[in-house]
Amino acid sequence: MKKIGVLISGGGSNLQSIIDSVESGSLRLEIAVVISNNEGAFGITRAENHGIPAEVIKHSDYPDREKFEAQLIKTLDGYGVDLVVLAGFMRVLTPLFVKHYHNRIINIHPAILPLFPGTHAQKQAFDYGGRFSGCSTHFVDEGTDTGPIILQAIVPILPEDTEDTLSSRILKEEHRIYPETLRLWSEGRLRIEGRKVRILPPDDESGG
Ligand code: GRF
Repeated sequence: MKKIGVLISGGGSNLQSIIDSVESGSLRLEIAVVISNNEGAFGITRAENHGIPAEVIKHSDYPDREKFEAQLIKTLDGYGVDLVVLAGFMRVLTPLFVKHYHNRIINIHPAILPLFPGTHAQKQAFDYGGRFSGCSTHFVDEGTDTGPIILQAIVPILPEDTEDTLSSRILKEEHRIYPETLRLWSEGRLRIEGRKVRILPPDDESGG
């Protein structure tokens, strides 16, 4: 069974949606390890509650990004992960890490990329005054939220919305598309073709 390593920084609600999907049997993969760069992250508790190995690797314990990432790589490779899943992970990854896991890192972003990359994407969309926002899963390349898009979900921005009500509407969709993204990956159905990701039909539909 394919193995994933999940990197978190905070509450871990996306991690929880992945754990729930694995435990329900709808997502056939193994969460080999959860790593947080923050020791207080509730996501670590979520992992421990489900018997998943969890480690804290604090970026503040390392003199620079490269040394921090070298420890991340050592730990992830130690667990033999096939894919790195960023789930509310708030550190920028350098080319060192991205090259090591070339096309094997997936992220979720709470906006319809390429709109509103970077931090506080929900607030960016809310302040801009558009009618819709949403979330995107994508492969990670050396840019910030610029890698090939896998799935996206749209949500309305309502006149009575606040930044918080919009964020929770987006988060519900994140919890839907991330497990779906990982299911497609686990079934080998994601093919990166330049800037685009082709989603292959299920084996039983491909006519053999
Ligand atoms: C989510 O909106 C995620 O997209 C963003 O951080 C928020 C919290 O994520 N990066 P989680 O609850 O820690 O998964």
